[in-house]
Amino acid sequence: MNRNLCMIGDVNKHINESVTIGCWLHNIRSSGKIRFLQLRDGSGFIQGVVVKSEVPEQVWEDAGKLTQESSLYVTGTVREDTRSKGGFELTVTGVEIIQVTSDYPITPKEHGVDFLMDHRHLWIRSPRQRAILVIRAQIIRAIQQFFDERSFHLVDPPILTPSSCEGTTNLFHTKYFDEDAYLTQSGQLYMEAAAMALGRVYSFGPTFRAEKSKTRRHLIEFWMIEPEMAFVTHEENLQVQEQFVSHIVQSVLQNCRQELETLERDTTKLEQVVGPFPRITYDEAVKFLQENGHEFEWGEDFGAPHETAIAEKYEKPVFITHYPTEIKAFYMKPDPNRPEVVLCADMIAPEGYGEIIGGSQRIDDPELMEERFQQHELSKEAYQWYLDLRKYGSVPHSGFGLGLERTVAWICGLDHVRETIPFPRLLYRLYP
Ligand code: 4AD
Ligand code: MG
Repeated sequence: MNRNLCMIGDVNKHINESVTIGCWLHNIRSSGKIRFLQLRDGSGFIQGVVVKSEVPEQVWEDAGKLTQESSLYVTGTVREDTRSKGGFELTVTGVEIIQVTSDYPITPKEHGVDFLMDHRHLWIRSPRQRAILVIRAQIIRAIQQFFDERSFHLVDPPILTPSSCEGTTNLFHTKYFDEDAYLTQSGQLYMEAAAMALGRVYSFGPTFRAEKSKTRRHLIEFWMIEPEMAFVTHEENLQVQEQFVSHIVQSVLQNCRQELETLERDTTKLEQVVGPFPRITYDEAVKFLQENGHEFEWGEDFGAPHETAIAEKYEKPVFITHYPTEIKAFYMKPDPNRPEVVLCADMIAPEGYGEIIGGSQRIDDPELMEERFQQHELSKEAYQWYLDLRKYGSVPHSGFGLGLERTVAWICGLDHVRETIPFPRLLYRLYP
């Protein structure tokens, strides 16, 4: 049968009209001669009201058979209703059951995290998980829009790579016929090649880190957005980042009000996320930590508690710049005035969400790059192509990587990154 279906998200265009909706029953409540159906179709939620005296006997009975997650076509008249959450209600005139569900495992009672994770394929139907995934999709839309409006080209670096980008300790190994290969940790090196070809580029893809860390910020598979820009220096790189992150947050505020409400997110904190963002140097951060009771030596890397302590001083994301050369990646450009630190920045999100961006200006001098290869014992064979970029028309260039899931966790106000991605890959979890 060819049905002319309406989405719940579109009922505002059909006030006082009769519509048919394909949906699932989220919940049902009966009070005497009235049944209240909480219906969902992915685009939103609506309450369907079935009044016994106003519908054929069959409709009343069928409505009574519906259980949680039963699927159906419901027909009714759209009514404006200011008391209801979405602003509309459906006066039901017809119910056509597709399937009556029994024993749906996720009931309205509280469930443990492991149970929910085992049922992630169903858990994503819940209002809260739906809201998170809708916001994730909006963040992705905002990201694409930001770069499209600024003449960046989308470039896709490879997923299977012969060598590492961010160090060798957490590589996922696989065979590539007779050769060894690794799942990409970052597309950056390839994006540098692309920037020399197309000027301003960005990638948006999955990255993999076999990190044995079981924290609320680490995923084994996560999505990274990596812009790379020819003729752009450290300072301009930071400006692009603050415009970028402000744009994402403001776009979610504009387009996802209901979802943020479902998550009970304090949006006043997000409203303040407009550039410029505060900046402190690594040196200043170390001094601050030492003065505030942290045992910390210059030359160490920050852990989560340090990042949180620093971020707590600010309402907006904060840049920590000029880290020691020793603890950062081989490709970062040293500060010409102080080669023991590099022209880099990590962006730390407010409210304890930690590092969401890592970026830097890149080394463009061929001799220094050769030197770094020796220091880091990198195989010149594997990276010959990368060295070529410094040999043929090398220019100053910069870029950064934004972690999508940490950004979603922060904007949604979530305790753990496991809820930020449809099917999280975590330490010891590959199912479902
Ligand atoms: O700081 P990272 O390691 O930087 C790079 O990979 C650079 N090559 C990026 C570039 O300059 N093109 O990672 C960038 C971001 C981090 O700030 C963090 O948000 C996220 O990626 N990230 C993770 N997110 C979830 N789980 C993990 N295990 C992550 N590791 C990094
Ligand atoms: Mg980093």
